[in-house]
Amino acid sequence: MILVTGGAGFIGANFVLDWVARCNESVVNLDKLTYAGNLESLSILKGNPQHIFVQGDIGDRLLIERLLVEHQPRAVINFAAESHVDRSIHGPGEFIQTNIVGTFNLLEAVRVYWSDLPDTDKSAFRYLHVSTDEVYGSLGKEDPAFTENHRYEPNSPYSASKAASDHLVRAWHHTYGLPVVTTNCSNNYGPHHFPEKLIPLMIVNALAGKSLPVYGDGMQIRDWLYVKDHCSAIRRVLEVGRLGEVYNVGGWNEKPNIEIVKTVCALLDELRPKADGSSYATQISYVSDRPGHDRRYAIDARKLERELNWKPAETFETGIRKTVQWYLQNPEWVQNVQTGAYREWLSKNYAERQA
Ligand code: NAD
Ligand code: TYD
Repeated sequence: MILVTGGAGFIGANFVLDWVARCNESVVNLDKLTYAGNLESLSILKGNPQHIFVQGDIGDRLLIERLLVEHQPRAVINFAAESHVDRSIHGPGEFIQTNIVGTFNLLEAVRVYWSDLPDTDKSAFRYLHVSTDEVYGSLGKEDPAFTENHRYEPNSPYSASKAASDHLVRAWHHTYGLPVVTTNCSNNYGPHHFPEKLIPLMIVNALAGKSLPVYGDGMQIRDWLYVKDHCSAIRRVLEVGRLGEVYNVGGWNEKPNIEIVKTVCALLDELRPKADGSSYATQISYVSDRPGHDRRYAIDARKLERELNWKPAETFETGIRKTVQWYLQNPEWVQNVQTGAYREWLSKNYAERQA
């Protein structure tokens, strides 16, 4: 049995779906179901006893303690977080609460549970902390990609809160001996991605005939990894990662944002051509930039490749095609995430941006 937190979000749901498809081990899935949590992503698991869903907060110490005692997991994987940089600029409080205080609560509850385990279970136990490359800050054009030894230079409330959580996890290993491993991954994309983030937002807006808002000059670089490859890296680190180590996860796919948006448009032109024959690219609109916008992220994943023999299965070309196809094939999922709260967010984030 493993305990996953945040398993109704984008990466967590993909992880849970893959886990259940690949093995017989049960998974307890604790998720608060914030705006980003979506049980529809897990609807295929309805009635499957291998998946036990519990709605709750990683900050609820008593609940976590109860779940640990009741289910006796051999591992805890923490995906639960506030994850959107733009939201962290508009309201950082929730990021401090979940990403920092929540991680602290989870670590403390797990520490108590782990301390009382019999010796063999104790040494087999793992706490896997899922983090981001954004903790390393922003790279210049010619800088080498982030290694695990890059200094921490977080620039947004989101990345600062994730950096703080990484430090807590490290300290709980160093001080208490908690058997932790941490992964710092680059930008993910794929099915079930909430359409507030770049790639799904562009797909959903394009299909709705809306403008495609590119921040600033669109030349900011992100390093993209298909979500299923992130999940395979997490499984690998869980099984053979060395205790207390950090593993950077990435697919060597650096692309400027504008190229991503144009690729999405070209795929839509091919797979769902517009009735008037024009390209979706005509909907692109440059808007005012995100404050403090990091210019470039790039991950050096050689440690994970070399030590744990991990490799991504998708190239960007195969992954982005699968992603666009998934959104075209799942209009109901897309429709159902566009609630009133989602529309409020769009007007908050985009209404005041100058074209
Ligand atoms: P997401 O926002 O899609 O999902 C987060 C999930 O956590 C949601 O289901 C939400 O309901 C849940 N949650 C939020 N606060 C909670 C709380 N207090 N208690 C319990 N559950 C709570 O995020 P994601 O993109 O799936 O990211 C998952 C993890 O991976 C995060 O830790 C994020 O920092 C990290 N990460 C994300 C990316 C990316 O590109 N999306 C890249 C690297 C690392
Ligand atoms: P995002 O998906 O929010 O991920 P992150 O900020 O964590 O990297 O954004 C990816 C990039 O796309 C980032 O440089 C900001 C940019 N972006 C836009 O240009 N327009 C948008 O509407 C959004 C949401 C993001």
